[in-house]
Order: sequence, then C-alpha cells, then structure tokens
Amino acid sequence: MPDPALFAPLTVGGLDLVNRIVIAPMCQYSAVDGCMTDWHLIHLGHLALSGAALLTIEATAVLPEGRISHADVGLWDDATETAMAHTLDSVRRWSDMPVAIQLGHAGRKASTEVPWKGGAQLLPDHPHGWQTEAPTALAFADGQAAPLALDRDGLARVRDAFVVSAVRAARLGLDAVQLHAAHGYLLHQFLSPLSNRRTDEYGGGIENRMRFPLEVFDAVRQAFPANRPVTVRVSGSDWVDGGWTVEQTVEFAQALEARGCAAIHVSGGGLDPRQIIPVGPGYQLPLARAVKQAVAMPVVAVGLITDYDQAEAIVATGDADLVALARAMLFDPRWPWHAAAHLGASVTAPPQYLRSQPQAFPDLLKARRPRGNAA
Ligand SMILES: Cc1cc2nc3c(=O)[nH]c(=O)nc-3n(C[C@H](O)[C@H](O)[C@H](O)COP(=O)(O)O)c2cc1C
Repeated sequence: MPDPALFAPLTVGGLDLVNRIVIAPMCQYSAVDGCMTDWHLIHLGHLALSGAALLTIEATAVLPEGRISHADVGLWDDATETAMAHTLDSVRRWSDMPVAIQLGHAGRKASTEVPWKGGAQLLPDHPHGWQTEAPTALAFADGQAAPLALDRDGLARVRDAFVVSAVRAARLGLDAVQLHAAHGYLLHQFLSPLSNRRTDEYGGGIENRMRFPLEVFDAVRQAFPANRPVTVRVSGSDWVDGGWTVEQTVEFAQALEARGCAAIHVSGGGLDPRQIIPVGPGYQLPLARAVKQAVAMPVVAVGLITDYDQAEAIVATGDADLVALARAMLFDPRWPWHAAAHLGASVTAPPQYLRSQPQAFPDLLKARRPRGNAA
C-alpha cells in the first residue's frame, strides 16, 4: 500500500507540519473579559494530544468590540496576553503540536449572546452588549440594530489592533497567524458587495473591496516574524445571489499570495441569512479546488470532512493540500489516530498513552517528547 497522502509532511511558510490534518478554529464562548480560562486549557490541551499537525486557537478578537460575544477570547491587552500565556505554557509542556491563532473582528456580527443562550444580538444598553462597527451601516439581519460605518480613523484603529495582536501573538511564541476573513465577519464584510456599500476607495469594485483586508494582511505580515507563516481564512462564496463568489475568492487569493500569504483556508458562507448552503460531505470542497487550481500556496479544505478515506482522497487527488476538521474533532478528539490506523500510518502520542495501542496496529503510536521540562 503506498504511503497515505494524509500523513505526508508539509512545510507551510517555514512551519513544519507532520501531516495534513489541521484542527479548525472553534469559538468556545468561555472567556472572561477576553481572558482564556481553565476551559481553554482543557479544550486545547486535549486537542493538542490528538496527533493532528496544527492546532488553531479560536477566533480571537483584536478589540473588545470585535468579539462575537462577551465570552470570546481576545488578545488586546496585557491581561488577555497573560491568560493566553498561561494556557499555552501548560499545553506546550505536554505537546509539541504547533499552535496557530485566528485573529479576527466580528464587525456587524459582534455583540451577541452565546450560542447556547440563543445567540441573539445584544443592544448597547444590555450589560453584555455594545455598539457594533462595519464597513457600512447595514444590519446583518432584518430587525437587527445597524452597525456604525467605520470612518478613516476607525479603519486605522482596527488595522492597528490587528498589528498589536499579531505582535502579542509573536511574543507568545505562536507558530502562525490566521486572519479571519470568512463567515461574514469584519474582513469578509469588506469583501462582499452585499455588506460593503461604501463609496470611498474601500467600496465599489473588487479592487476597492479587497483594499482593507489586504492592508490588514500587509500590516500583520510586516509585524509577525518573517520566518513564521501568516495565512488567511476566507469564505469561498456567500451562497447568495449578488454576493461574494468563488471567482472573486480566486482573485483575492492571488492578491494575498503575491503579498506573501503562506496558505489559504477556504470555508464558506456566514455573510447573509439568505444563504442557501449545499450541505453534505465535503460541501465546500469545490471552492477549495477552484482556489487550488489558481495559486501555488497550500490550500486548506474544510466542511464536513469526517471520513478517513474522504480526507485521504482530498489530499491524494490534489483538491487541497490540507484538510481542516472542526466538529469531527470534538466528536472524536483522537480522529487523527483513527485515521492513521485506518490508512496504515503512524502518529506521535504522549508517552503516557502508548499502552493504549491496539494489538492490530503495532506501528501506530510513536512516542512524542514534550517540548517543556515535564517529568
Ligand atoms: C463549536 C464551533 C466553533 C466554531 N468557531 C469558529 C471560529 O472561531 N472561527 C472560524 O473560522 N470558524 C469557526 N467554526 C467553523 C469551523 O471552523 C468549521 O469551518 C465548520 O464547523 C465546518 O467544518 P466541520 O464540518 O469540520 O465542522 C466553528 C465551528 C464550531 C462547530
């Protein structure tokens, strides 16, 4: 049997990945004033033992008003940085998995209740609400309060906040930054003609709509160490007539690549409640495939990739270079171990767990040395 493509190593922007499995960013809505809590240590800690190639920290707000909810993680001041340092120190003591951080701003989709309490928009007079900001004063959904349109000072403030968070991320030793330009959040709101109706140089044609996301990319790329990758997550389509399309995504991906983007992660949707998403196994793969055909940088596919052979086929056929998993990793945090067993590969595992290796797979688990000075 040939070596599985899913377990072939890959170097992305100078970062060595042991296989092609990425843990997608997943908001936990469990922070306090932007500070990670013990939940993040438990959540990230166990995912860091999963055998994946890269762990991505959830959407992390660059400003308090950029949080989706009041319980989002942030990285905007010393307190949020110290809390994240505590989590990372503990995770790294027991795992050598590289850790990326997704930096984002929710724009008009900020100031909501946490999902398990309904996720409704919270108005500024609510104790957990605030005034939202966006490219244009257009609400996300009918009946919602509209955001304020960002003026030039506002744009500079947001861009500078991305830079400050990237500097903090570098100081924390994070291995990569992923800019969140997907799922209808602020940078995506600039890209899509449905949410960006500006009449200045940041709105109108695609060149103008890409301008602010590209300025943020350039500023973050400049601020983050050159030998560590900066990547971008996009929505490959709004899945709404008149919205952001896969053709525009390709153009954006090419512009990012020309600026030194190390990889592009192709998701979809989230901008407009009228979206009609063709949900099914690998439903976003055609979007990743289209981008892959147009760029040389590595492409990450995501969206209902749950089956080991499906993941192997995505990488082996060249539809994408890496696969990202979210829900399947929560359902089965040892998904990469099971994929390796199924495909005849091996994964590194903490020495404490080596005795779990099933007799049928004598070469599955390789001992991993912790990075820190754990006994
Ligand atoms: C609990 C949860 C939290 C999520 N939080 C984020 C996030 O912080 N940033 C992001 O870009 N996507 C987020 N997503 C979307 C996932 O990263 C992923 O793109 C989506 O779930 C589709 O992949 P899947 O079918 O493997 O779950 C989240 C998804 C889930 C289930």
